[in-house]
Amino acid sequence: MFITFEGIDGSGKSTQAKALVAALEAAGKPCIWTREPGGSTGAEAIRKLLVEGDPDRWSAETELLLFNAARRDHLEKTIEPALARGAVVVCDRYVDSTRVYQGVARADLREVVDLIHKTMIKREADLTFIIDIDPETSLTRGLARKSGEDRFEDMGLDFQKRLRAGFLDLAAQYPDRCHVIDGAQNVQAVERAIWAAYQGALS
Ligand code: TYD
Repeated sequence: MFITFEGIDGSGKSTQAKALVAALEAAGKPCIWTREPGGSTGAEAIRKLLVEGDPDRWSAETELLLFNAARRDHLEKTIEPALARGAVVVCDRYVDSTRVYQGVARADLREVVDLIHKTMIKREADLTFIIDIDPETSLTRGLARKSGEDRFEDMGLDFQKRLRAGFLDLAAQYPDRCHVIDGAQNVQAVERAIWAAYQGALS
């Protein structure tokens, strides 16, 4: 099973992706944690180009191609081999981030995003958790962290609001795969909601 975590910057999805991996390991399920952009040596090198530096460093179109180059390498080197040996793959961000960041919030490129995905990547997640949170809360969390990887956080509150709306629209487009989880709850409550949805997806 290929499980992805999505949400705006600072939504808590990274913590939750790691918590799910820990719960799967405790249940004796072979699994890996991975992330985008990144997740393989080549894709991590592309990640540095994407997340560091000036917000205007790349156009949305160039960004889209870089994300897909990284994704293709990640898929070939990490995701497909893990799925082939029967592991559950838990990935922090995947194509839904591209659909929303490059497809809707940064630019109106949704059709191009889907076209590139269909021809060059092909694989969709089996199960997607969208951690939903108010952008004002998430931005405070994200910027408080100041990781040096703040290029997207630096695009501002309106941008984060467009992202949130984009993720909620996406959940409505893919109701079978996407579960919207209220990220304003405490961490344990979010974990329980995710575990319950995972169990539901298995049965
Ligand atoms: P990430 O490291 O997950 O950031 P965070 O921990 O703040 O959520 O992702 C880096 C940034 O890249 C993030 O702001 C979202 C953006 N991004 C896109 O714009 N398109 C994509 O396809 C992906 C995977 C990420």
